[in-house]
Amino acid sequence: MAIDWKIHTYAQLSSTQDYVRELVEEDFPEGIVVQCLTQTKGRGRQGREWHSPMGNLYLSVLLRPDCTAEQGGQLSFVVAVAVSAAIDEVLAEDHDKKLKWPNDILINEKKCAGILLESEMDSKGKVKALIVGMGINIHAPPADEGIGLQSVTHEITIPVHKLRDRVLHHLSEQYERWKKDGFEPIRKDWLGQAYRLGKEIKIRQGDDRYITGTLKNISIIGELMLEIDGKIEKYSTGEVFS
Ligand code: BTN
Repeated sequence: MAIDWKIHTYAQLSSTQDYVRELVEEDFPEGIVVQCLTQTKGRGRQGREWHSPMGNLYLSVLLRPDCTAEQGGQLSFVVAVAVSAAIDEVLAEDHDKKLKWPNDILINEKKCAGILLESEMDSKGKVKALIVGMGINIHAPPADEGIGLQSVTHEITIPVHKLRDRVLHHLSEQYERWKKDGFEPIRKDWLGQAYRLGKEIKIRQGDDRYITGTLKNISIIGELMLEIDGKIEKYSTGEVFS
């Protein structure tokens, strides 16, 4: 059944992730969506800041998948596949879009969207709540090497709410598919769009340790599978470089 999203929109918040976390404490149900136009303390993965000026999409949704931690890890791929489909819908032109492990979306090799998953477990080790945060650059890419969707289309403007609604539509669809059919179809879709699949990549482990290998697959729990000296090695953390 499609999720009946309940959308709360704010002009400014410190972080939509923190706001939804408060709602988790108050036992809000699955389907809450918190969107804001700017964030003063947007967070990215690994404690990084997520620069959040006006003009982009910032939202967090509450899911209650009641699954194991390992299955919960699969949900970042569910979200990436959903966001990717939404981007395809709002961009009229052909575009070179790729999904970079674990959950970045690139256009022309530049990041246009980031996904942050934060979970709360219950006493039995099940995922009680999953807060899925998404930042999608439309008009205002961050100063570094990011890209905004608006710069790759001749559409006069991509309304933030239109992108939000397409993201939520696809997220509901892909989440249902994952619950019904498991991870395999999602993994296939994700791999079909994977950045540098079959090519050499370098991953950073810690501050200054780099590992190089050929990107072969992702495992059933979402680990990166690299071929290194003829052997497959799995990595659950790290940052991918080409
Ligand atoms: C990344 O590091 O790539 C993940 C970025 C996630 C940013 C989004 S913006 C909406 C939500 N609120 C936050 O503070 N972070 C996420």
